[in-house]
Amino acid sequence: MRVLITAGPTYEPLDPVRFLGNRSTGKMGYALAEAFAAAGAEVTLISGPSQLPDPPTPLIQTQRVETAAEMFAAAAAAAPGADVWVFAAAVADYRPARLEAEKIKKSGDTLTLELIKNVDIAATLGQSKRPEQFSVGFALETTDELAHARGKLHRKNFDLVVLNSLRDAGAGFGHDTNKVQVLDRAGRVRNFELQAKTDLARALVQLVLASLPN
Ligand code: CTP
Repeated sequence: MRVLITAGPTYEPLDPVRFLGNRSTGKMGYALAEAFAAAGAEVTLISGPSQLPDPPTPLIQTQRVETAAEMFAAAAAAAPGADVWVFAAAVADYRPARLEAEKIKKSGDTLTLELIKNVDIAATLGQSKRPEQFSVGFALETTDELAHARGKLHRKNFDLVVLNSLRDAGAGFGHDTNKVQVLDRAGRVRNFELQAKTDLARALVQLVLASLPN
């Protein structure tokens, strides 16, 4: 079995020294890569800038990228040959409209940045998903969590969507633990209690393996 995983943040450059980014550490995506490899899968891990080292197992091939555009190119190359896609990356939805060749100099009391929309990696690849392929997405919502996550499941052609809780201390961005709900296409919702991301990754891999089309 071949698995494609996106992980970590993306960095969108503004000038030679600055970028727009986010606080994703990559921990959940890397833990999933390790858990799929432990289950015998060959994993392509496409990682935005993360402090985490490349997982040492030869079953995981780590590709480092910076921007959403680079992540899309790498993911699009690996997607047709993968049985399972997992979109765990926190991709920047927008990037600076211009990349300045020189460092932006300070002037005036305000500075307005123009941003343009990035490609939605999961949604774009979702349009070419074959019936035997399986796609897993992540969602982080603050209001109407289940309804929004369900919307993403259909819009991005996911088979499962992992909904991160923002309400629980110790869950999500930057933490070693996570608490999630997993929604499937049949409308089922499964609750996973707060636990180490490594343990949650193992449980999610078991759920994916049990959900795969035969
Ligand atoms: N995703 C992606 N490419 C993007 C944005 C998101 O592949 N440019 C993937 C994420 O990896 C995640 C899922 O889509 O699996 C949900 O991302 P999220 O940012 O929550 O969704 P958005 O489409 O940005 O929706 P909204 O801003 O309305 O919450």
